[in-house]
Amino acid sequence: MSFKSKIKKWKLSQALHNKNYGFRRLLVLNYLPKALLYNAYKTISNWRGYSQTPLIKLNKLSKTLDINNVFYKDESKRFGLKSFKALGGAYAVEKISENKKNIVISSATAGNHGRSVAWGSQRLGLRCKIFISQYVSKCREDEIKKLKAEVIRVKGNYENSLGECLRQAKKNKWKVVQDFSSNNYKYVPQLTMAGYSIMIKEVSSQTNQYITHIFLQAGVGGMAAGAVAGIARYFKKIPKIIVIEPENAACVLESIKKGKRTKIKIKKESIMGGMSCNEISLVAWKILKKSINYCVTIRDTKVPDAIALLERKKLSKKKIIGGECSAPGIIGLISICNDKRLKKNLDIDKNSNILLIGCEGNADTHLYNKLLKIGKRKIL
Ligand SMILES: Cc1ncc(COP(=O)(O)O)c(C=O)c1O
Repeated sequence: MSFKSKIKKWKLSQALHNKNYGFRRLLVLNYLPKALLYNAYKTISNWRGYSQTPLIKLNKLSKTLDINNVFYKDESKRFGLKSFKALGGAYAVEKISENKKNIVISSATAGNHGRSVAWGSQRLGLRCKIFISQYVSKCREDEIKKLKAEVIRVKGNYENSLGECLRQAKKNKWKVVQDFSSNNYKYVPQLTMAGYSIMIKEVSSQTNQYITHIFLQAGVGGMAAGAVAGIARYFKKIPKIIVIEPENAACVLESIKKGKRTKIKIKKESIMGGMSCNEISLVAWKILKKSINYCVTIRDTKVPDAIALLERKKLSKKKIIGGECSAPGIIGLISICNDKRLKKNLDIDKNSNILLIGCEGNADTHLYNKLLKIGKRKIL
């Protein structure tokens, strides 16, 4: 069976229309003000090594799905850190350190955020302590260590690593750089989200086509909220916004369903490690609750297949290295196109210009190689 016949069978596990939808630019920019977005762009675009990441046309996929354009923002090329997270944590480190050299930065991470914080600290010559759970791979740990951060592994899950990070930071007076916001902790996550909005600023100058739909992966919702702020600030027309999560970690979907921020229980960690989160960040929730049109969830099973399709040039002219968290947009789009009613409800047709965020490359090379091998065997 050809891969084209195989992808025709792809399905979402859930799709939820947001009954409370009502996008308002001013509301979004109230939580991430224009000045914050501007400062993030001004600072980061002056860092050594800054360049726009490629906006690649998935021309083979758009032809298969009979869609005008499918764009893929390739964040594997971001500052050599291989994910969009390079724009967030590192920027927050620079802002909160205020040129002081005698401070210690700390953070808990599933991988990419900590790598960004460690890089940001190294750039400024600051000491850095990164807390990781037992689920973070050795490969991700080693990448963080290469940036001269001290890595502390904590038994249990992400929440345990965060708890330990906060405890030690309080005791030792370290600065904490998290991307998750709560009632008493908003400014640092706002900085990280402002950093992420740069992806959208870049897209606004990389194509003159109006984006009609954007697919945004969510863990704690920081990337999605940063992108939505970018849309409110830089796009002339507001596209339909679709958030995608792993079925085992659908905290955004659950919150949209209940109409309030809802914590979920993760029964099994997703292979999409950066997105395996149980609660949406507070500021992200305020931004997303009326801005999202649809929430969808996917299973882990098609992740290797999507990785292989990108790498084997089945979707585009160019080979694309997309890691596990880059797969959801592709899986989500294909699955929606297989569901006639949903496709119609979302107005996806031959005039659509879809934007997918390829949010990471082979940031965990070991896992990437393993998934690629499985994917090639399954889909090709
Ligand atoms: C590669 C990648 N994509 C997406 C996400 C999800 O981002 P957020 O937690 O801001 O929603 C993460 C989070 O770590 C990630 O590492």
